[in-house]
Amino acid sequence: DKAGHRHFMAKEIAEQPSRLTSALSFYLSDDGAIRLPEPGIDFTGVDRLTMVACGTASYACHVAKYWFEQLAGLPVDIDVASEFRYREPPLAARTTALFVSQSGETADTLAALRYCRGKADRILCVVNVAESSIARESDLALPILAGPEIGVASTKAFSCQLLVLGVLALEAARQRGRLDGAAYAEQVESLRALPGLVNHALSISDEAARIATRLAEARDVLFLGRGRMFPLALEGALKLKEISYIHAEAYASGELKHGPIALVDKSVPVIVMAPHDELFDKTVSNMQEVMARGGRVLLITDRAGAAAASHGVWETLVMPDVADLWAPILYAVPAQLLAYHTAMAKGTDVDQPRNLAKSVTVE
Ligand code: M6R
Repeated sequence: DKAGHRHFMAKEIAEQPSRLTSALSFYLSDDGAIRLPEPGIDFTGVDRLTMVACGTASYACHVAKYWFEQLAGLPVDIDVASEFRYREPPLAARTTALFVSQSGETADTLAALRYCRGKADRILCVVNVAESSIARESDLALPILAGPEIGVASTKAFSCQLLVLGVLALEAARQRGRLDGAAYAEQVESLRALPGLVNHALSISDEAARIATRLAEARDVLFLGRGRMFPLALEGALKLKEISYIHAEAYASGELKHGPIALVDKSVPVIVMAPHDELFDKTVSNMQEVMARGGRVLLITDRAGAAAASHGVWETLVMPDVADLWAPILYAVPAQLLAYHTAMAKGTDVDQPRNLAKSVTVE
């Protein structure tokens, strides 16, 4: 049931405010304390977190790495499951392994989990399907409560994975004495603001559709982001290639001049994801290098970012203001909407893109 939408993907994008609200009410009590399913997680006994996933779920891990490291001072290793399992990496003492999967049935992720059995202190998973193999075989399963995701392109599962990982990082920071009560309460409040902000962000849909008619003419698209926004650039590129079949690549902004800038000319749209945070000026200088070479920039930013840096850019999408830390959750929305509308403009099969399956149960 598409609930009046043309595609499951559109429905699932639109559902994000209510799905995020469900996840928040599961993980936060009224007094702002974080509640984890029993028996909970003792982060004081963890020296290292190893995160493993595939595709979009792996990009959620990459965002979470910034959160765990910056907020909780907890070192994180990440690998895609198909590399991790065959590399057979040694796990250091006091390592917790964390697997992220919407379906809970991805073959490589499940095999990576089984590899960690007996080697990691603890096996955790962040899953959407609570009755899945990955959930069953973990010591503790943390549900994302996104509801069934039918569209092959993952949307609401990504934002809900990020939310749950953000909650975990906050809890780790609290337990490890890295956040005082006021700072913790402030971050919890900023998490609670997300459903409303995501709802607001959905209103850029018409503008994204207008821009998408131009993106649909491109053969190649580059996405750039820095820090927490780099994984969002990766996610934007994956979403676009998956459903519109346009070749898209993402780079950390600082890597531009180490090679990819050679690709830039006026036929390659460059999508820059940059809220006005502590790294904004650095990203803007990379953006200017693109424009100086005739590149057409679509800047996705907030009001302050647009006021500071819209001059000379091809298009600007203005997002609501959000706490810096949680911006990746909000900026998932324009990444999804641009891909969706570009696919619509190209007439591709949005919910069932060629060559892809919703759940990759073969290796
Ligand atoms: O079910 P999983 O989260 O384990 O699936 C992982 C990937 O196959 C999945 O995220 C894939 O990359 C999506 N189609 C991306 O939109």
